[in-house]
This record gives sequence, structure tokens and C-alpha cells, in this order.
Amino acid sequence: MDTTRPSIARVYDYSLGGKDNYDVDRAAFEQIQQIAPAQGDVSRMNRRWLHRVVRYLAGPAGIDQFLDIGAGLPTVGNTHQIAQQENPDAKVVYVDNDPVCNAHGRVLLEQNENTHFISGDLLEENTLLENKNVLQYLDPDRPVGMILCGLLHHLDDDLDPPGVMSNYISRLPAGSYVAITNFYDPADENPELHDLSKRLERAFTEMGLGSGWYRTREQHLEYFAGLELISPGLVELEDWWPAGPATRPRLPEERLVAGGLGFKPRVENVRLHSVIGNA
Ligand SMILES: C[S@@+](CC[C@H](N)C(=O)[O-])C[C@H]1O[C@@H](n2cnc3c(N)ncnc32)[C@H](O)[C@@H]1O
Repeated sequence: MDTTRPSIARVYDYSLGGKDNYDVDRAAFEQIQQIAPAQGDVSRMNRRWLHRVVRYLAGPAGIDQFLDIGAGLPTVGNTHQIAQQENPDAKVVYVDNDPVCNAHGRVLLEQNENTHFISGDLLEENTLLENKNVLQYLDPDRPVGMILCGLLHHLDDDLDPPGVMSNYISRLPAGSYVAITNFYDPADENPELHDLSKRLERAFTEMGLGSGWYRTREQHLEYFAGLELISPGLVELEDWWPAGPATRPRLPEERLVAGGLGFKPRVENVRLHSVIGNA
């Protein structure tokens, strides 16, 4: 483990108030906070979104196997805890490529026989859907809830994130869902927020972390190609089925993350979902 440079997983852990981080990670995050003082709230908002989408998938949508890629360090309210509240038999496979997650994930996340942690990379050849460790636990012929929260914005353009997603989506069984959150650049829709997103992007990419790309709505929509977007579509996170009415105005940095849930239709479901998911 390299503790001389910040790691995405440890910086994010610090932003959530966790303890698995070093001075170098804390310093990196504090530089971000100079531009966006409430960036810790942004991380917590991202976790709340994850909870809502997993609750929906494991509950009404009936998904009982999850692949959470770029899972990060264990924190309060992990995917398996939410999913297994809805369905105790739901299986969850976590994957991360950071060694610190690997060490802590096994110990803290593998709490029951339906929960597993695998060290792996989103970018591995033939995708994680063909990784033999993943296939030990997930049935590749049945619908999967694939989760990529806060991950794709750490992939440089050179790595072709839409191409990566298209490869996964083509291999997912029909009836699967893909949940994605990412840093968002509102571009012409809001020049002030666009400016803030570019300042944050420079801070993330130039100050040791090396990644943290704010992408436009069009770029985000490319990740869902081949899927139907479930209502309300691709939106600011707190606009995606919030848990209740807002208790305060949304802060600028909280408007710079977008999320959406895509569905790979079964032939007989195409009509139903195009009606309810027409966003
Ligand atoms: C910002 S954290 C998000 C954690 C969690 N998904 C959440 O939303 O709360 C991003 C995670 O993605 C992991 N990651 C980055 N690139 C990855 C890759 N190519 N394959 C697998 N994991 C990756 C990092 O190690 C980090 O733990």
C-alpha cells in the first residue's frame, strides 16, 4: 500500500468521517474543501443515494444479486446491509482495486455467507462479469444489480468509460439494472456551476489524486446506452426519489453529482418500462 500519495478510497473514507486514512489523504481532501467546503456533505449525499437505489432494487424491483464495483471502504450502511434488510437472501459481491479496501473489505464486509469481497478491476479483460471469483457467487444468467457509485469519474477519457460500460451492458442478462453516480458538469445550463465544476476538477486531477472528472449530461447518458432510464432519469442526486422534503437549500457542490438507474429490458417488459421510465 502506497501511503506517500493519496488514494481515492482513503480520501473518500476521510470525507465520510472514516478512520482508514493517512495525513496525505486528509491533506488532499482539505484542498478540495477550500473550493467546496461542503464536499463531505456531497459524499454523504452519494451514500444516501446508494441506499435509496439499493432499497428499491432489492425491494420492489426484486433484484437478489448485486455487483458493487468500486465499493470503497466499509462505512455506515453498506450495500449488503441495505439489500438484506429488504431480502435476507440477497447476495452482494463487492469489488475494488485498492489494496486498503481489499484488506478491510474482507474483514468488515463479509459478514454472512451472502456477502463477499473481491479484489478486482472494473477494467479487467472480459469484464468482472466473467471473473471467476465473481462467478463463484453470482449467477450470470439471472438479473444483476450492478452498482457504480462514484467510480466512472475516476476513469480518464483515454480509458473510454462509455466503451467500458457498453461492454458490461452487452454482457448483462436481461432484467438487470445499472446504478451510476458521477461528478456532474452542468455546462451551458448553469455557467456558475460549470465554473465551480471545472475548479473542482482541476483540484481533484492536479493535486495528487489524478482523477475526478466532471462530465456533462450528454457524457453521462452515454454510460446508459442500451438501457432504459428509470424515472426520474438522470438527475441531481437529491432529485432522485429523495427520502423527504428538503430542509435547507441545496449547496452548489451538492448540485455537481448526477445519478441514474438504467434497466436492461426483457422483451416482454419493454412497453411497461418505456411508460414508467420515460424521463
Ligand atoms: C469515491 S469511491 C466510491 C465508493 C462507493 N462506491 C460509494 O459510492 O460510496 C471510488 C472507489 O472506486 C475504486 N476504484 C477506482 N478505480 C477502480 C477500478 N478501475 N476498478 C475497481 N475499483 C476502482 C476506488 O478504489 C474507490 O474505492
